[in-house]
Amino acid sequence: IGKNKITPNHLATKDYLICFDALFDHVDYFVVNVSSPNTPGLRELQDKEPLTALLMALKHENHKYAQNKQVIEKPILLKIAPDLTNDQLSDIIQIVEDTRISGIIATNTTIARENLKSDYDLVEEKGGLSGKPLSKRSTEVIRFLSEKSNKAFPIIGVGGIHSVEDALEKLEAGADLIQLWTGFVYEGPALVNKINKAILAQT
Ligand SMILES: Cc1cc2nc3c(=O)[nH]c(=O)nc-3n(C[C@H](O)[C@H](O)[C@H](O)COP(=O)(O)O)c2cc1C
Repeated sequence: IGKNKITPNHLATKDYLICFDALFDHVDYFVVNVSSPNTPGLRELQDKEPLTALLMALKHENHKYAQNKQVIEKPILLKIAPDLTNDQLSDIIQIVEDTRISGIIATNTTIARENLKSDYDLVEEKGGLSGKPLSKRSTEVIRFLSEKSNKAFPIIGVGGIHSVEDALEKLEAGADLIQLWTGFVYEGPALVNKINKAILAQT
């Protein structure tokens, strides 16, 4: 769930709550997206104060909804950017502890443009970059969160998984589950089969 492009950040919580309420009956878990580079200003919501306030509002709504409907609360996960500094990642660990959300999805797309082989026009394009160029940083973020938190919460690892090796690397770095988006486009659904077989062969 996210906020609309035209909604200013000081009114963002309302957008998230509207999405939360509309989807509650239909989803297994929620992901709070504050990390897309494609919505101007959205990533400012990753700062400690607004993020804590947003997550607490959603936790409160979750509790209220579950009580009213006599059902269990839905897990709420936070999706973060790969462009956060280590200090900001340490803040995220603290925020997970403070708000008691269910986990982190690391990571969204990046605004970094290092080591690309594409033409200048493409490199300079605005928006989030996904896939292979993201893989190393996304793994670093997962490893940092896992090690510094002492595996205190589940991490869903995503970013540049294009092969079995990429998937195993994310798990080795501390991911409990993995997702892939761009790898699915380039390699096709058979990649998921290969990854699952490799994981089963390890157990
Ligand atoms: C075209 C496109 C649209 C995306 N839309 C969203 C989105 O709406 N919300 C979100 O949290 N992440 C979004 N993502 C980010 C992906 O879910 C994923 O975190 C990111 O692309 C890194 O994984 P990948 O390298 O496997 O693509 C999008 C990615 C792409 C390429």
